[in-house]
Amino acid sequence: MALRGPCPLLFLTLILLVAGLLSEGASYQQFVRQHVEYPKTGAPNDRIYCNLLMQRRGLTRPRCKPTNTFIHAPTGQLRNICGREGRPVRGNLRDSNRSFRVTTCRVLPGSQPGRCRYRAATRVTRVRVACVRRLPVHLEPTYLP
Ligand SMILES: *[C@@H]1O[C@H](CO)[C@@H](O)[C@H](O)[C@H]1NC(C)=O
Repeated sequence: MALRGPCPLLFLTLILLVAGLLSEGASYQQFVRQHVEYPKTGAPNDRIYCNLLMQRRGLTRPRCKPTNTFIHAPTGQLRNICGREGRPVRGNLRDSNRSFRVTTCRVLPGSQPGRCRYRAATRVTRVRVACVRRLPVHLEPTYLP
């Protein structure tokens, strides 16, 4: 049976709209999972911190993610970069007005999934994020250690 009239089109439009909104939500959730760790979990040193957090946040499967940065600030402060606490750079990229503590983890050669090993670098720095519907969905490497 062929679909007729405006209803199937309307239905399809609604599905695409909902799917779009859900995927934006997913991108923000993914941003938080990958890039926000506050307060910073205690560890004997930052290398052990990276080994622990990369695994805990699911970034070591199916492969060892080569580089990842954790920002040690509340999610609200990072969302604010998409508003008053940030300035536009180009496109949907914005720089934070303030600086945050960050830890960047870089995988060591020879790491295997299940045994990913990282080195760590820390810095207090501005961050550059991409915003979609006033939510951060991506962290740019600019400014990161
Ligand atoms: C953030 O920086 C921009 C550009 O310098 C400035 O216009 C804005 O007022 C600042 N926001 C706050 C809350 O200070």
